[in-house]
Amino acid sequence: MIRSQLVGFGSYLPERVITNAEMAKMVDTSDEWIVERTGIRQRHVAAEGQLTSDLALEAARKALKFAGVSASELDMVIVATATPDNTFPATATKVQYGLGMTGGFAFDIQAVCSGFVYALATADNFIKAGQVRNVMVIGAETFSRILDWNDRTTCVLFGDGAGAVLLSAGTGKGDITDRGILSSHLHSDGKHYELLQVKGGPSRGQTVGHVYMEGREVFRHAVANLTSVLEETLAANGIGPADIDWVVPHQANKRILDSTARKLNFPPERVVVTVDRHANTSAASVPLALADAVGDGRIKQGDMVLLEAMGGGFTWGAALARI
Ligand code: ACO
Repeated sequence: MIRSQLVGFGSYLPERVITNAEMAKMVDTSDEWIVERTGIRQRHVAAEGQLTSDLALEAARKALKFAGVSASELDMVIVATATPDNTFPATATKVQYGLGMTGGFAFDIQAVCSGFVYALATADNFIKAGQVRNVMVIGAETFSRILDWNDRTTCVLFGDGAGAVLLSAGTGKGDITDRGILSSHLHSDGKHYELLQVKGGPSRGQTVGHVYMEGREVFRHAVANLTSVLEETLAANGIGPADIDWVVPHQANKRILDSTARKLNFPPERVVVTVDRHANTSAASVPLALADAVGDGRIKQGDMVLLEAMGGGFTWGAALARI
């Protein structure tokens, strides 16, 4: 059977770093409060004029280089983002042009922090249907542009960045020894639309708006939904936590990562953590963490990796893959 293999990884973080100490000069907060409640120590922030597409392009170029594949071989580009350059067209079309692709097609996916998992599942299904062979899947965000920098309850939590994975069609036997994406599981529940949102938008307010979040409620739902989708993924593949080499979670908050890992008996040393350095980069956080752990040699070819995310909507999902 056709399997979507993860053959290239790339990431990009803007140069400018804002530490918690600097945040404490802008709003009434402290390094101790931020570290204790979230595990975040710093975040990267895009330079003036540096757009989501610029970050995405850097990450995608690195993923192509990693795989030794040229842009002309790509059939499709997906950018998962909640912070597109423009309301339209899709940021992905700018990335397609920037990469020098002359064919194929490109579009954005909007599932906020779950965007990368949604994009990966979408790409996997296009590949398995035989419609495309090489897909660049990118998560890229400039959340700094939609933060109210006077609101201490949200501005300390987010950062900018991009991560990319090149998926390529391969073949497998159809069991869990195959290389590539083994399963994906997506969910959403629009009942909770209001709990985590940007208060604005072209249709509702004709403005871009700022991030608004009911933190405690989001926390509670995040742990419950992530635990449930991880259990679903393990059951669908007939495996247990001990079969997973690495969990690569969305990096929202160290306490969400810890609670979820504890509930499922994943040892903390098998969970990739970047939230301390990157903060929450929304759709970029999973591919950024993946590229980090592949780049430093922790994740190796043959490893079984579990990706998971939860975000506004609410949306949530997981994907199991053998690298
Ligand atoms: N610095 C200092 N004090 C603060 C700050 C801050 N940056 N922010 C809030 N406080 C204060 C509050 O005003 C409150 O003060 P009060 O008791 O005098 O009213 C106190 O700290 C406690 O506030 P809570 O909101 O109850 O704090 P909590 O322990 O819930 O932590 C947090 C807040 C970190 C946002 C937490 O709720 C959380 O992590 N929620 C998950 C949300 C999340 O990670 N969202 C990311 C997007 S969604 C996703 O990616 C899954």
